Amino acid sequence: MSKHDIIEKNIGLMTILMVIAVSIGGLVQIVPLFFQDVVNEPVEGMKPYTALQLEGRDIYIREGCVGCHSQMVRPFRAETERYGHYSVAGESVWDHPFLWGSKRTGPDLARVGGRYSDDWQRAHLYNPRNVVPESKMPAYPWLVENKLDGRHTADKMSALRTLGVPYTDDDIAAARDAVKGKTEMDAIVAYLQVLGTSIKNTR
Ligand code: HEC
Repeated sequence: MSKHDIIEKNIGLMTILMVIAVSIGGLVQIVPLFFQDVVNEPVEGMKPYTALQLEGRDIYIREGCVGCHSQMVRPFRAETERYGHYSVAGESVWDHPFLWGSKRTGPDLARVGGRYSDDWQRAHLYNPRNVVPESKMPAYPWLVENKLDGRHTADKMSALRTLGVPYTDDDIAAARDAVKGKTEMDAIVAYLQVLGTSIKNTR
């Protein structure tokens, strides 16, 4: 019996050997990425989210927008023609957690910043059917009523700083006043409008 026959007829042994083979294959692909600047360093000129944008991002997470919208333009012509430059790793190095998503009930939002006016974004979030009659997206009217108090904004920024986001002491000290009294709508629109803008849209 050849060695291969032994493996093929012993499912336990084959499982163990498969796990080893797949692990080596995975490590060879993944580990070098930890040491490559191109995936660890922010893209040139990128700024951390402002206090208001950061609050907007948390509302985006709370409302489950990521369940219908990806933030990942793949490097295929069909995608770059529609959305703009494909996403690069350096754009997400300060996103904790990242919101790449995997479901596209709606369009990808990685490069939506600047595509529409603030007014369009507000009208759309208030009730998508007001601007896109055939839209299936849910309405989020409460965003215009809910006000931010900024109680935890500085804490969030300090926590992100421990993960390497370059917030200064001044940013953190000013965080509360920067968001206090703004509506959740102000915050989420500020967030949407900055998405993908650190790489110039080459469409
Ligand atoms: C049930 C799925 C669903 C959810 C949840 C959802 N959307 Fe959408 N979204 C859509 C669909 C479908 C469209 C395309 C139709 C339209 O423009 O309304 C869309 C379109 C958009 C657009 C316009 C994109 C473009 O390039 O034209 C933006 C911006 C957007 N959504 C933001 C959000 C935000 C922010 C949230 C969370 C507060 C959210 N969506 C939640 C389904 C969803």
